[in-house]
Amino acid sequence: MNVFLIGSGGREHALSFAIARSPLLTKLFAAPGNPGIAEHAELVDVRIEDHGAVIAFCKAKAIDFVVVGPEAPLVAGLVDDLEAAGIAAFGPVKAAAQLEGSKGFTKDLCAEFDIPTGGYGRFTDRAAAEAYARAKGAPIVVKADGLAAGKGVTVAMTLDEALGAIADCFSGAFGAAGAEVVVEEFLDGEEASFFALVDGENALALASAQDHKRVGDGDTGPNTGGMGAYSPAPVMDAAMTARVMAEIILPTVAAMRARGTPFKGVLFAGLMITADGPKLIEYNTRFGDPECQVLMTRLDGDILALMKASRDGGLDRVPCRWRDETALTVVMAAEGYPGTPQKGSEIKGIERANAIAGVKVFHAGTRLDGGRLLANGGRVLNVTATASSVAAAQALAYAGVDALDWPGGFCRRDIGWRAVARERG
Ligand code: AMP
Ligand code: GLY
Repeated sequence: MNVFLIGSGGREHALSFAIARSPLLTKLFAAPGNPGIAEHAELVDVRIEDHGAVIAFCKAKAIDFVVVGPEAPLVAGLVDDLEAAGIAAFGPVKAAAQLEGSKGFTKDLCAEFDIPTGGYGRFTDRAAAEAYARAKGAPIVVKADGLAAGKGVTVAMTLDEALGAIADCFSGAFGAAGAEVVVEEFLDGEEASFFALVDGENALALASAQDHKRVGDGDTGPNTGGMGAYSPAPVMDAAMTARVMAEIILPTVAAMRARGTPFKGVLFAGLMITADGPKLIEYNTRFGDPECQVLMTRLDGDILALMKASRDGGLDRVPCRWRDETALTVVMAAEGYPGTPQKGSEIKGIERANAIAGVKVFHAGTRLDGGRLLANGGRVLNVTATASSVAAAQALAYAGVDALDWPGGFCRRDIGWRAVARERG
């Protein structure tokens, strides 16, 4: 198959790394790509927002399958337009991507189909949102309805903080994404991410992971897109996985079918494992970044066959194996992130890190300038390691970090702390 991969992050480098191993692959193209993806794919200059240009490229290069990495093109309906042009694509159509594109949509679906999640209200009016928050009291969670790059959520420990977040949303801090606000019950417990592949009808449990959203050690400081992750998440044992499939994932697949908008692609459930069992925090309709990096490192199967089955149907018949090891990734970000990152600092030592057995460095925001590798975004590298325990994977990943020479970058030093503490008992 000729495959066209869309995206430019660490997630897409990990996907290209996994796709390159598939016996089904003839040639891989990618756009916009990054220097890591270029190890596995021919990078092409196609503007992703221009669906006509994407279709024209696919026809010119006889592309058999398009893999869409990030959420924005899914919510913009790229899969709809490709399929309408006769080009097979991995990921949900626009109507199904609403599971990520609108938090209110997902909350209403959960309410209608008895999928466990926190209580909530949806508001387009500031005074009504404030009245609801006052009536419920803190702690309480305020969310911009639409896509806000992970930054539209405030977990308010005081009522004043909640009122401030409501004011921010309605004053346009998140643009159109904040024109509607969801005010939601605070859920207490351990967070986990769970990934399933869906073909519209069947769901295949993939794996679990835990992300680290805050920028600083000890889960302090502002929220980010994710500063590191590991897989599997010890809290998601076989029994909890079965519950999540039965109580959350399969009812969602059935609900989307019942509504006439079957979901295909990756269903990424953000979960809170509470004293009352697993509850859905939110859905994403794509692989997580950096969770994908640990998933693709552990996958011992053919990602292209899995993604094709998600699009064509028959996921219940495709084998999927996982290495019985922990994978852990440490995100290295440019100074300034999650505010304005400093671009242009030089990165050295990637070969040295990759030479450590069990270490793989994925590129996110990097670019080549002549022979020099430069930082070109907020999250820049994902230093990933696999080992027989979380503690061992953590030690190996930080050995990879320490092999790098990049004064303009930083990382958290405690990725995996929760699971390491659990291993120590
Ligand atoms: P989201 O973008 O919806 O995943 O939210 C970002 C983060 O806010 C989540 O990863 C949780 O840590 C936290 N969060 C969101 N909703 C809730 C909730 N209802 N209760 C507690 N924490 C939440
Ligand atoms: N790491 C969280 C996300 O991809 O949404």
